[in-house]
Amino acid sequence: MSQLEICLKQIEAIKGQFQADSASSKAQLSIKVVEDLRIKYLGRKGLVTSLMESLKTLSKEEKPAAGKVINELRQGVEAGLESLKVEADASALDASLSQYKLDISLPTQNLQGSLHPVTLMRRVMLTEFRKLGFTVYDGPEIDLDFYNFEALNFKEDHPARDMQDTFFVADRVATILRTHTSNIQIHAMMHEKAPMRVVAPGRTYRCDSDITHTPMFHQIEGFVVDKNISMGDMKGIVDRFLKQIFGQDLSIRLRPSFFPFVEPGAEFDLQCVKCRGAGCRICKATGWLEIGGLGMIHPNVFEKLGMDSEEYTGFAFGFGIDRIAMLRYGLADLRQLFEGDQQFLSQFPIQP
Ligand code: DAH
Repeated sequence: MSQLEICLKQIEAIKGQFQADSASSKAQLSIKVVEDLRIKYLGRKGLVTSLMESLKTLSKEEKPAAGKVINELRQGVEAGLESLKVEADASALDASLSQYKLDISLPTQNLQGSLHPVTLMRRVMLTEFRKLGFTVYDGPEIDLDFYNFEALNFKEDHPARDMQDTFFVADRVATILRTHTSNIQIHAMMHEKAPMRVVAPGRTYRCDSDITHTPMFHQIEGFVVDKNISMGDMKGIVDRFLKQIFGQDLSIRLRPSFFPFVEPGAEFDLQCVKCRGAGCRICKATGWLEIGGLGMIHPNVFEKLGMDSEEYTGFAFGFGIDRIAMLRYGLADLRQLFEGDQQFLSQFPIQP
């Protein structure tokens, strides 16, 4: 047998072996199996590569013919490996997809949406205030120091400014995220004429975060300006409102307190909604729950806005909507309100 014949026989054998190998690889096809085959045939010491070595043993005349057949074999092996690789990639994708148990053809569990408890609570509150003759006002969440502090009689460098850990809008000392909804008092009084009965709900911001504080929270502010408004009117309105929300048997009480924009100022408490005043874990055995602040509008606030503080009097109050929602719906943790958990949220109705 000539060297050429020996070489052609080898080529034929390797071709047959590759066909057998690629057929049997299909039983357990993977990217690794295909790579192993590539090394076996086309690697540096691979079967096809080593055929090049045997070319050297051939005569000058024999080389072109044998070289051509070896090249055809190499191309055949490359094409075979390529199609195996396509198959391996597809089955790897199938395997990874079948790990996700997601059937997008299933109908959703909860077809009906619901109102967020804070939205729900806000709507209930506004309905009650409208019944008492109040107009609903909206105001900016990004505001000037003037509306949030200065016009509300917070003196520059007064520690009360530090009590409300303020977020400043970058590089602009005078522009802040409002720390309370009391800024609405100023906006409304600059645009409306007395007599006024206004409530304004909205988001407020303080640099504060723990179990009972979130950096964003909701407040509702209310105020009345007219002639001859007394503290009795104030107490009557707040008392009536809270009874509508929590039940007629609960009383309120006022405790003297300081807020720069009211004089006298007070914090107001509601008898505990859980134990109805007897003392329990929620009210820390006091029988009372802190709800918010209120007071008679400070003459300086009127004067700053060019109103005659001898002619007009008024009262203002403010409290947290989130806290009222927690008490009203019996929620354990303030943060539940802001986690967006579908199971939690879907317990609430779609309408107040
Ligand atoms: N703005 C006060 C705060 O966020 C709450 C407050 C207190 C509002 C007294 C009032 C008020 O209208 O009269 O701490």
